Order: sequence, then structure tokens, then C-alpha cells
Amino acid sequence: MCGVVGYTGLRQAPQILIEGLKRLEYRGYDSAGIATTDKLHIDRRRCKGKVQELENLLKTDPLSGFTAIAHTRWATHGRPSDENAHPHIDCSGKIVVVHNGVIENYFTLKSELIGRGHKFNSDTDTEVIAHIIEEKIELSSNLLDAVFEAVKELKGSYAMGVISSESPNEIIAARKNSPLIIGLSDDGNFITSDVCAILPYTKKVIYLDDGEIAEIKPDSVKVYDLNHREVKKSVSLINWDAVTAEKQGYRHFMLKEVFEQPESIQETLNSHLSRDTGNVYLRDFNFDTDYLRSIKKIFMIGCGTAYHACLVGKFIFEDYLMIPCEVDIASEFRYRNPPLSKDTLIIAVSQSGETADTLAAIRLAKSTGASASVICNIMGSSAVREADGMLYTHAGPEIGVASTKAFTSQITTIYLLALHLGAIRGAIGKSGAKEISENLFHLPLKIREILTYEQKNIESISRKYFKKRDFLYLGRNINYPIALEGALKLKEISYIHAAGYPAGEMKHGPIALIDEEMPVVVIASDSIVYEKILSNIEEVKARNGIVIAIATRGNEKMREIADDVIYIPRMPEIFTPILNTIPLQLLAYHIAHLRGCDIDQPRNLAKSVTVE
Ligand code: AGP
Repeated sequence: MCGVVGYTGLRQAPQILIEGLKRLEYRGYDSAGIATTDKLHIDRRRCKGKVQELENLLKTDPLSGFTAIAHTRWATHGRPSDENAHPHIDCSGKIVVVHNGVIENYFTLKSELIGRGHKFNSDTDTEVIAHIIEEKIELSSNLLDAVFEAVKELKGSYAMGVISSESPNEIIAARKNSPLIIGLSDDGNFITSDVCAILPYTKKVIYLDDGEIAEIKPDSVKVYDLNHREVKKSVSLINWDAVTAEKQGYRHFMLKEVFEQPESIQETLNSHLSRDTGNVYLRDFNFDTDYLRSIKKIFMIGCGTAYHACLVGKFIFEDYLMIPCEVDIASEFRYRNPPLSKDTLIIAVSQSGETADTLAAIRLAKSTGASASVICNIMGSSAVREADGMLYTHAGPEIGVASTKAFTSQITTIYLLALHLGAIRGAIGKSGAKEISENLFHLPLKIREILTYEQKNIESISRKYFKKRDFLYLGRNINYPIALEGALKLKEISYIHAAGYPAGEMKHGPIALIDEEMPVVVIASDSIVYEKILSNIEEVKARNGIVIAIATRGNEKMREIADDVIYIPRMPEIFTPILNTIPLQLLAYHIAHLRGCDIDQPRNLAKSVTVE
């Protein structure tokens, strides 16, 4: 995710913002920039690479000024480069903008602006904002009014900061579907994407809400709703220190990332899907439609959690596209002689894009003439550079070794790819695409419901079972891979042995393990095979087994059958894998915490396995 930070006050702004950008580095980025309004002139420095490189640039070519905006860019539109780094500037050179989010209709806006004579210097969606404000300010009396008019033309998401040399002592900020915070201090005021960027200077903050626009001056802050009515905002006091702030008050990065999933999935959807039309925009998936119409097989490869995402993908692709989809663990794929051909589309899945086995699988696939794509979370990673096409998950950096938000964003991206292929191949019509799109956009809210209503229940269940030595996870159909993922989460952070199985396999061996000591976690949400799962639960109970059931809210009967029940909101079965994953992530987290494990850095594990 990009990072935005700005300051206007009594102190020199550049160094304050460079320090702020350094505290936003954990969000992940590929370029950085800063601009000031100094002596009625906009001055800007930008560079691809790390904040340190921008700081070095300022040492040789310094900036000064009491009002500035700065940005770390996580590329969405346009590759990492100096020209694509924020802040972006208008034709007059008087207006600069920094932005976190995605302007969905930027292509249309950019074409219209070019048609009206505007000159663009970047491939970004953000630059259109600067040029639109440039036009609006000619018709407005001030920058605030110009931004009000400009945002009416924007579709998508934005957390933006705007400054102008014509009004050098103010920042205009606007927020829609992307967080933006105002910081208040005695010698100036701030904007930021994340409080950790400004904590050394202030702990007093105002959280902007969607649709609000703010006028920030050194000694005043005014917030307006979209109808230009001033709104009274409460001032919150942050009680974290800077290190904790990176975890935003959570004990561990993993827990923060579990709770970020409504936003990370929203970010994934906003980056690729129009809610209005159900149209998908997969900018970097560089395959022509004729080729995509010609493919006869999909082959998905990954490791660990990414492999589980591939297994879910098999159900999605085969259900929506009726294309056979084979799935393999990358370390197995690379040493066998898989039957590949030009009409096989390889889809590798990797959060880091640096997993050695997955990279080797991509290279093997390409050597046979098949086309290789990658679903990845890191811009510029090896897998992204080597694949023929890519899909960014936009989950933002995942610091915890145990993958959580990257996994659910991988699955979300697979739905989007299925939508894209379905539209091209005529397998999914307009109404079907609209229905799928609507369901996808419901996911963030449904996840938030689970996080809100089930967290206490899950903590209580964790206290009952955290000393157990073995767990069994069972699931069926599209939720069988989620049983595997739940078991992996528990294993890797609590060091408890856990096995995931298709529930139908229980009678073929694992049932011998059932006793009153081993909890059995069963994914029993509403499903075409729900009755079969219910039988499996009965079989466990008949042998004095312990059952922790994940069920659909409203299924009160489950309380009479299982020892413990965790509920998820109702959704069509094909969309339940992500919902069923959330309780399993929290269960693993709370059990590991009770066991005193090093949750963010579990023993023997690395975030990215870059060696065989
Ligand atoms: C998942 O929680 C683990 N950290 C691990 O299984 C991980 O998914 C696997 O190493 C693949 O990593 P990648 O997605 O970066 O390729």
C-alpha cells in the first residue's frame, strides 16, 4: 500500500516528512517523493528505490519550506520509476498531489484531459487528479473548492493530500475507501495514512471518514462533508509508542494483518474490479484474448499457504469456467515431467515472489513453451519479473511469517481472474458477473462481522484447548483446502501437530486417531455436502471426540451437536473459503499466544523460503 504524509506549520517540513516516510516503509513501496510550497514555488524531489535514496538526494539538492507533502509509492498503475513516483504535478506547476488508492476511471479522465491539451508526465492514475484540480481551480475561489469539484469526477478510492504554490500555507486532504488521518500539534498539523508516521510529533489525531474533505492550516483544521457542510470531528489520543504503532496497537503483526483483511480485500477488489459493472481490469495480466480463449487447461502451483490458495482456485476455475485445473506443490512440480503445452496456462501463486521452488516451477513451465503467470504481492519480485503476466494481490506488506491477509487476497484475485476469463470465454455473462462482483464486494463487511462478533468466543475456545497436543481439521468440497490451511496456521505458530483432511477421508484412516484428547475442527458451513459433514461430526462424537464446528450463523442445531461452535455469516458456498479462514486464523493465533510462542517469527520458519 502507498503511504501519504504531509505537514504545514512553523517548522521546516522536509526532514519531518522524510522521518515520517521512514516510519511508513513497513507498508512496502518501490519509490518515494516529496514536494514543498516554498517562496510561492512548488519544489519537488522524487526517486525510485528507498527513502534513504530520497534523503541522499535532498542532501545534495536540498528542499525547504513550511508546508510539504510526501509519499511512498506501491505501484499499481505504471512501473516503479522516478517519473511515476508521487507527488504528481499539474501543467501549471502550481499544484501537487499525493494519493493512496486507485482511480478506477482514470483512463477515461486522462483521455479527456489530454484531449483538452493537458500534458502528462507519468503512467499513473494519480496524475489525473492534479490536472483535474488545475481545471477546477480556474472556476473556484480557492484550493478547497477546487478539490471539492474535482473529487466529484473520481471513481474508486483515494486518500489524498494536495498543496498549491498559490496558497502555500495549507494542505487540502480528501478521503474515500482509503484511510487518512489528521495530526494536531502546537507547531503545525499533519496528514498521514498511518499514525506511526507522526507519533514522534503528536498523539492527537482526527480520523477522516469516507467522503470528507479537510482544510489543514498551521493553526487550524476544518473538515467538511461532501455537501460542503463543516462537520465537527472528535480528537482521539493515541496511546501507542512508535514501535507499537507499526502494529497499530496489536500485540503482533499477524493479529494486525488478520484484522486488516476487510481493508486488504477491499484494496484487492478496488484495484481490479468495478462494482458498478462487474468489469475486471487486470492491467498486468499480459495475455491476449485469443490466447486466453484457446487455453484448454490451467495448472496452478505454489507452496504452503499459497498452495492452499491454488487448491481453492481449482474449485473456482472448474466451477465458473469448466476448464480442467490441475494443482501441484511447486517442489513436486519442478521434479516431475508435467504434461504441459502451449494451451496450458500456468498460474503460480506466491506472496513473496521469491520462493525458490515456485520460481523453479515457473522457469520449468516456460521452458516447455507454456505461458506462466503469477499471483503475487510484491512488486518487482523475481517471480513477477520472470512470469509472462502477473496479478497483484494488493494486500500490502505482510510482516508476520504466517500468511493471513495475503492468502485471502490471493483467493480474491483468483475470483477476479475467473471473472476475467469467464467474460472472455463467454462462460460468465453480464448478469453472472454482476452477481459475482456483488458477492465479492460483500466480503469485507462479512469478514468484519466475524472479527467483531466471534473474537471473544474464539479466545474462550482457545483457552479450553491450547494445551492439546494434536488437532484434526476436516473440510469438504471448496472448504477442504481451508481445513489444510487451518491446520498449517496452527502448526506453524503454536507448534502443535495438526492434520488437515477431506472430511470424507476420515473413515479411511484418521478416525483411528479420535479420542477425548484430540480436538477436531470441522468446517460445517452451509454446503451441498452439509449432511455428509454432519455425519462426520456424529462419527467423531460417537467416539467421544471433541468437535469445534465452523457453522453458518442461524444454524442453532449445531450448538447441540458440537462442543464449540464458531459462526460465519451466510454466503453462497463458493464464497465461503475466505469466511471460513478467518476463525481458523484467530484460533491458531490465540492458541499460540496462550502457549507463549513467537507468533510473528516462529522457530525454524522464514517469511520467504528462497532456498530449496
Ligand atoms: C504460510 O503461512 C507460510 N509462511 C508458508 O507456507 C508460505 O505460504 C510459503 O512459504 C509460500 O510462500 P510464498 O507465498 O511467499 O511463495
